[in-house]
Amino acid sequence: MPRPYAGVVTAQPTVRDGELVLRPWRLEDSDATRHLHDDEIARWFDVPAAHPSEQEHRSWIERTGTEWAERSRATFVVEWRGHAAGTVDVRLQDPAVGVLSWAVYAPFRGRGLGWRAVRLLVEWSFDALALDRVEAHVNPRNRASVRTALRAGLRREGLLRGNARLAGVTQDTLVLGRLRGDAHPDSREGFTAMLDSTLPTKRAIAQGVLRSTTGRILLCELVYKGEWDLPGGVVDRHESPAACVVREVREELDLTVVAGRLLAVNWLPALLGWADATVFVFDLGTVDAAVVDRARLQQREIRAVHWTGPLDWAGRVAPYNERLLRSLHEHTGGTLYLEDGTPTG
Ligand SMILES: CC(C)(COP(=O)(O)OP(=O)(O)OC[C@H]1O[C@@H](n2cnc3c(N)ncnc32)[C@H](O)[C@@H]1OP(=O)(O)O)[C@@H](O)C(=O)NCCC(=O)NCCS
Repeated sequence: MPRPYAGVVTAQPTVRDGELVLRPWRLEDSDATRHLHDDEIARWFDVPAAHPSEQEHRSWIERTGTEWAERSRATFVVEWRGHAAGTVDVRLQDPAVGVLSWAVYAPFRGRGLGWRAVRLLVEWSFDALALDRVEAHVNPRNRASVRTALRAGLRREGLLRGNARLAGVTQDTLVLGRLRGDAHPDSREGFTAMLDSTLPTKRAIAQGVLRSTTGRILLCELVYKGEWDLPGGVVDRHESPAACVVREVREELDLTVVAGRLLAVNWLPALLGWADATVFVFDLGTVDAAVVDRARLQQREIRAVHWTGPLDWAGRVAPYNERLLRSLHEHTGGTLYLEDGTPTG
């Protein structure tokens, strides 16, 4: 697709979506818009005064024309029912990548103008500027702007920690982006991808209880931590917990097991820098104790394995695992639901 903006400079266009219009700024807009700047805009753009001076505002409007002519930025008035209701812009960071910014004036907020204006700007940027990507850098505490970006079809891509300053305080920045080839945000695929980029993800761990014929439970003595633990590990992306425990036992102990009944689901709260996690504990069946004598232990993770009973656990396993093992030991019915090793209810 040709890049008209990147070639001969043409007049900045006006773009419409029903009652919403994006049009170039004009000096005549200055008086009507200067006093519409408020503390919210000043806060997030980190400017000292809510209202710019007449001179500052007029200079800024003039600069939008210069930036268009220089092909560095396209800034539009968001006009709604004939009123200047805000401003949106796309700055060309690279010939194919634009960085978005926006503001809606207080009297016009909360009626869907923000996200509609940004979405119109994004789609115009793909068509008229032939951009391949647009992105926005938003303070994660600016909830209205995060939602505006998502509703405009941008996906959450990542968090840059401590890369910005606002009112002299170091802040994080959320990066949200949309690619030209992304499914449209109104399509099922596009909406799901947008939502999926923001929903919480929780670590899943799968472990197994392997018993000896005398009823003892196998625990691993690990290279990287002092406490003994059940065999198992962190579930990979797109892997089921049952498949994970079978894989982990094969990798750690070189044993082939079958993930049997689900003995417990144990939710672990955040601990020692780890986010919260959900542990699935499977029954791996009963084997002759001598089976582990023949096991080839994964040297970089497992120092040794031990057949254990209740008298061996105190002080050897982490407190939450001791609670889990005791809960399992005392329980004979169906699957246990535990929080931090303890049954609820
Ligand atoms: C961000 C801003 C443009 C939103 O404009 P708006 O027209 O009020 O927004 P919309 O009505 O289109 O709503 C967009 C989304 O934000 C949500 N939202 C709006 N105001 C909100 C608030 N105060 N808190 C939380 N969410 C809010 C809306 O519910 C909507 O999300 P949803 O449809 O998923 O529910 C406006 O608040 C603003 O100008 N803020 C100051 C400038 C700014 O922060 N600019 C961005 C710098 S990166």
